[in-house]
Amino acid sequence: MTDIHIDKSKLPVHVAIIMDGNGRWAKKKGLPRIYGHRAGIKSVRTAIETARELEIKVLSLFAFSTENWTRPAGEIGALMGLLSRYLKKEKEEMKSKGIRFVVSGDISALPAKVRQEVRQVCEYTEDCRGLVLNLCLNYGGRQEILHAVNMIASLERTKKTQGIIDESAFRRFLWTGNLPDPDLLIRTSGERRVSNFLLWQIAYAELYFTPVLWPDFNRNEFYRAIKDYQTRERRFGSIQ
Ligand code: IPE
Ligand code: IPE
Ligand code: MG
Repeated sequence: MTDIHIDKSKLPVHVAIIMDGNGRWAKKKGLPRIYGHRAGIKSVRTAIETARELEIKVLSLFAFSTENWTRPAGEIGALMGLLSRYLKKEKEEMKSKGIRFVVSGDISALPAKVRQEVRQVCEYTEDCRGLVLNLCLNYGGRQEILHAVNMIASLERTKKTQGIIDESAFRRFLWTGNLPDPDLLIRTSGERRVSNFLLWQIAYAELYFTPVLWPDFNRNEFYRAIKDYQTRERRFGSIQ
């Protein structure tokens, strides 16, 4: 239980999380890094449950970046294995809880089996109208922007676009499609950087950094982040 009181009238619509610190969590315990990733899955479940409880509409989770391919093959393989197991295990429960599973990122580079599973869960839950769970896989903000630019350029060549591309036209080409921009970006593990996450979308997000390592990020920590968000005054460039 938590005794943190949340003002339900001031909730973020979209919360994005950079789930960082699994490796350090394991190292502190003298365990191989993969144990940290395994423990991190429990925090993923808790974060989803807490988001549902708070009636947050969209939860984006950064699971694998375009730069994470530079890690040792063994770690990448283990992460893909965990993802595959997670999708198989959670598919039914997502549907029964009304969770719509969507993905942002270039999934064509994922192992074929994982790619198929990802697609299946997206299709299986596409009619769900509860929490939108946006899993960011092989995601990079710069790559996303370049992908959008190239799509627009190729449409331009076939004259399928008309004139100037404004913000609302541009964002439709992003992997996040028509999801609203994040109101709150949380990063665990004490690092204070965005590491190529949702670069376009976080233009006006409130940033929350916590030293807590991802496997220790529980319901109470999520509530603390929301509570902190509720103290912020969002001005969007205007005056009060
Ligand atoms: C985050 O934890 C999970 C992924 C990037 C897949 P890390 O694996 O980055 O853990 P640290 O930052 O090394 O502790
Ligand atoms: C960001 O964490 C990516 C994910 C959480 C998936 P990293 O651990 O990869 O980022 P850096 O290397 O510390 O910037
Ligand atoms: Mg890290």
